[in-house]
Amino acid sequence: MITGQILEKFLRLIEGHSGLSFRHEKLFSVSARIKEEAERLSVSPEDYYRMALGQKDVLEKLICMLANQETYFFRERPQLSAFGELLRRVKAGKQKKGEHSLRVLSAGCARGEEAYTLNIIIMESGHFLWGWDINVLGVDINRDSVDRAKKAVYTGNSLRPSKKNAEDISRYFDEDNNLYALKAPWRRNVSFMAGNLLEEKTYSGLGGAFDFVFCRNLFIYMPDEAIRKVSGYLYDCLTPGGYLFAGTSEPLNEKTQLFSPVRCCDSVFYIKARSGFKR
Ligand SMILES: C[S@@+](CC[C@H](N)C(=O)[O-])C[C@H]1O[C@@H](n2cnc3c(N)ncnc32)[C@H](O)[C@@H]1O
Repeated sequence: MITGQILEKFLRLIEGHSGLSFRHEKLFSVSARIKEEAERLSVSPEDYYRMALGQKDVLEKLICMLANQETYFFRERPQLSAFGELLRRVKAGKQKKGEHSLRVLSAGCARGEEAYTLNIIIMESGHFLWGWDINVLGVDINRDSVDRAKKAVYTGNSLRPSKKNAEDISRYFDEDNNLYALKAPWRRNVSFMAGNLLEEKTYSGLGGAFDFVFCRNLFIYMPDEAIRKVSGYLYDCLTPGGYLFAGTSEPLNEKTQLFSPVRCCDSVFYIKARSGFKR
């Protein structure tokens, strides 16, 4: 095992860069991964720390090994139903203003299951069929995940809730040898990029563009300061009155006043509040 002192240093480095912190019960496995990676690189844990401190790619590789990547298609159905309801409202508002574009951000998108799910819901809603410019963007710190998201080929694990439903599977995926390739029409409108949500440069060119931001099951791993920083950036990404979805166990209104919570369809989402709130 590595020493408590070096573990502390790694934890501070990881949190400072990505915002991620680990619960006490996870520390044993975090420490084991750090030791394993140092051994793989044939360096001492202290030298590995120095490498991570000086080389962003080394640090990000470690963060990616440690960050939870758990996700699957159609995760948390009640929130998705609320999203479906809101689409109608958003379309009506846009039509009044003569606008014909819809933008959705999946922040912390992992391998793309969430971004593709949202695109499927938009397409199946029937509200945005002709003459609409739809764009769903997925962003994740993990480059491997982003590459996999672009390929859109999944194992059965990513299909969990739809697994029982063979009809759903054949509607959305081509199956080959227990791998499921998302069919081309459902991939249309969706793009991905690697980026750290804690870094301002990730958001360059994205300001004020998104009608919806999904940032689910990520804040749960972040301390309050990082949550406030990321939610401030996401606030700036949203159009006035835009909607933010956080994970069901991530009560954002306890951490920031930037968003007002709304209950709908057995779930909670947030509306971008008026500007002028303290971050
Ligand atoms: C548990 S997954 C959640 C995936 C999806 N949003 C969902 O709810 O199913 C969390 C994702 O956030 C990503 N992540 C963690 N810290 C990040 C950061 N600072 N910037 C961007 N992505 C980050 C991880 O790589 C991981 O893919």
